[in-house]
Amino acid sequence: MNNIKDQENLNQKKVLLRLDLNVPFKDGLISDETRINKIVPILDFLIKKKSNIIIISHVGRPKGKVNKTYSLKPICENLEKKIKKKIKLLDNDIYTLKKEDLFKNTDNQIVFLENIRFYKEEEKNDASFAKHLASLADLYVNDAFSCSHRSHASISKITEFLPSFAGLQLETEIDALKKVTTEIKKPITCIIGGSKISTKIGLIKNLIPKFDNIIIVGGMANNIISYKGNNIGKSIKERDCETTVKEIFETSKNHSCQVSFPIDVLVGKNIDDKSKVKELSDIENDDMILDIGPKTIEKIKNIIENSTTVLWNGPAGYFENPNFARGSHEIAKQIVKKNKDSSIYSVIGGGDTVALINQMNVAQEFNFVSTAGGAFLEYLEGKELPGIKGLN
Ligand code: 3PG
Repeated sequence: MNNIKDQENLNQKKVLLRLDLNVPFKDGLISDETRINKIVPILDFLIKKKSNIIIISHVGRPKGKVNKTYSLKPICENLEKKIKKKIKLLDNDIYTLKKEDLFKNTDNQIVFLENIRFYKEEEKNDASFAKHLASLADLYVNDAFSCSHRSHASISKITEFLPSFAGLQLETEIDALKKVTTEIKKPITCIIGGSKISTKIGLIKNLIPKFDNIIIVGGMANNIISYKGNNIGKSIKERDCETTVKEIFETSKNHSCQVSFPIDVLVGKNIDDKSKVKELSDIENDDMILDIGPKTIEKIKNIIENSTTVLWNGPAGYFENPNFARGSHEIAKQIVKKNKDSSIYSVIGGGDTVALINQMNVAQEFNFVSTAGGAFLEYLEGKELPGIKGLN
């Protein structure tokens, strides 16, 4: 992988810099800045080299349409404060932009393109869109490991049109995960939760041969609870996943991997409700499963107690409401406790999971904190990520 830090002459070079600034928001405010903090070094590096920087990022899933809710403006302003430098947010139609105009005003060393997912071509990995993006710059840098599992135009296709390099944070993340996967000590437990069910449910089957325990919590667990014949009421669930879930359990029979899922849950009538403990058989039509229950917490703590390595991506429940944060907090506390006596190696990944441990002020108690969620799991699967492939 070619790294930008090894490039000599970057003076006045126009660098298309793909970042993942997909940070969590609460009530219109950024609720966790980790992903912004982690990319400050690449900006400082390129600023020192006197490059002209064109930042590309996405936030949320605006599905190819301009939607002000998903504007990068608040992120751009946050970043300006961090690097103490003006950044020009360009919300013009990308197709009207020309390379020779971007830095005509010499006060601008950094320009920031509006949410790249406002263009449907991005997620389609569209070649002419990628070619147009490439026409704006001299070289391309991917410092967005956490979205490098997406075959999107500004992550994958773009590398066909420009000399492409790995960024500083991307290299740090890959090096750390390489170390984890080569030096990993058994028994290994992987905890998978969160709400992005479609991204994760299909890869569990491939993780089974690698781990001793897979614990499924969060939204994905609802698919399993439902597959096992229980009513899940109004809870989130991915459609048409029965075959995938069946394969998970069939694969686990052929390997010494125990797949665990909630045996009791906390429900509410809506996400802002108070919580109520329920057995799986008691869930009603108007209930939403929003956290794991006390028996499940005990079971998970016990599995962690008997593990040497724990990899965790995705909260156990809707922790943004404190009534449904207990499952995630107890998992974090158990890992931290084992880390304190150095009897576990722990890696945590994903925007929400990192936000959770920051909220608890325990991020420094984990051995490695990755910004990546889906990309982290696909890397563990052993896949070559589309965004990394183009850098090799
Ligand atoms: C993430 O948060 O995992 C990345 O930004 C990718 O987001 P996505 O799941 O919407 O593609």
